[in-house]
Amino acid sequence: MPQLFPAHSAPHGTKVAIVGAGAVGSTIAYACQIHGVAHTIALYDIDAAKVRAQVLDLQHGSMFTPTTSILGGDDVGVCADADVVVITAGAKQRPGQSRMELAEANVAMCRALVPRLLEVAPEAILLPVTNPVDVITHAILTISGLPARRVVGSGTVLDSSRLRSLIAERAGVGVPSVRAYIAGEHGDSAVPLWSGAFIGSVPVAGWTVDGTPTFTRTVREDIARTVTNAAYEVIAGKGATNYAVGLAVAYVLDAIIGDQRLILPVSSLVRDFHGIDGVCLSLPRLVGRTGAGAIEPASPSDGELVSLRASAGQIGKVCAELRL
Ligand code: 2OP
Repeated sequence: MPQLFPAHSAPHGTKVAIVGAGAVGSTIAYACQIHGVAHTIALYDIDAAKVRAQVLDLQHGSMFTPTTSILGGDDVGVCADADVVVITAGAKQRPGQSRMELAEANVAMCRALVPRLLEVAPEAILLPVTNPVDVITHAILTISGLPARRVVGSGTVLDSSRLRSLIAERAGVGVPSVRAYIAGEHGDSAVPLWSGAFIGSVPVAGWTVDGTPTFTRTVREDIARTVTNAAYEVIAGKGATNYAVGLAVAYVLDAIIGDQRLILPVSSLVRDFHGIDGVCLSLPRLVGRTGAGAIEPASPSDGELVSLRASAGQIGKVCAELRL
């Protein structure tokens, strides 16, 4: 039969597997389906009834999205030969709980899960989303023995989106006109890189309205606090975050599968960066089909470097306690 219309925009034969069919995993699948990120999306969860229901619900929307094959089950074999495996399974933050408090339980989960994933998807890039994502990225790197570029934590991509939207709102511009990154831990010690933040071609610090600077130190501190507290605020109201993280991870997946070579603040192993070494945290990195590669970022300010080292210290301490 001749094909009259292109069936989908995703690269043919590409497959994303998502471990965990809860709020985060299923929303990532939904965002990938809407954007046509991959030809096949596979959901894996130990809860057979839940994963079946999520797969059916997604499949029922297929008339409205690029053609995507959606499958799932409670057997890890559904992840077979995936190009990227996203890991969202594990204990979730309860209201008031920090991400770091989940470390021990979720590292233990990774010790059991990762070898089984690599058996069925040996060529996959692993994309941890489970918190604390920087510790989990380090754990997966250690457990898997994969090259660093193939373990790409979702990191502070979501925090950077939160930052950009708050800057855009204050400046009265559209979010895509803002370029700004959060680096460091995806968590309480996250570091906004104000020194490299721009609105259009104007450094954020130099943005004025009627001659008055908009982003004073007080405003910047207020924005940084709002970003750090964002997840706590959402979790207090509805028990979990899912929509923004779903979109953020689909964006990273699109960069990998489509080899878009985007500069994104994903979490991966840092080597010899201004005194930080051997810790997984977020810095702007080049993301494409082979995973995440280091770039030479504009030098952060002295104050930002102090905060980044402190953030690396927090992550490194938890990794050391867990013998990673
Ligand atoms: C978030 O930042 C909870 O890490 C999750 O939305």
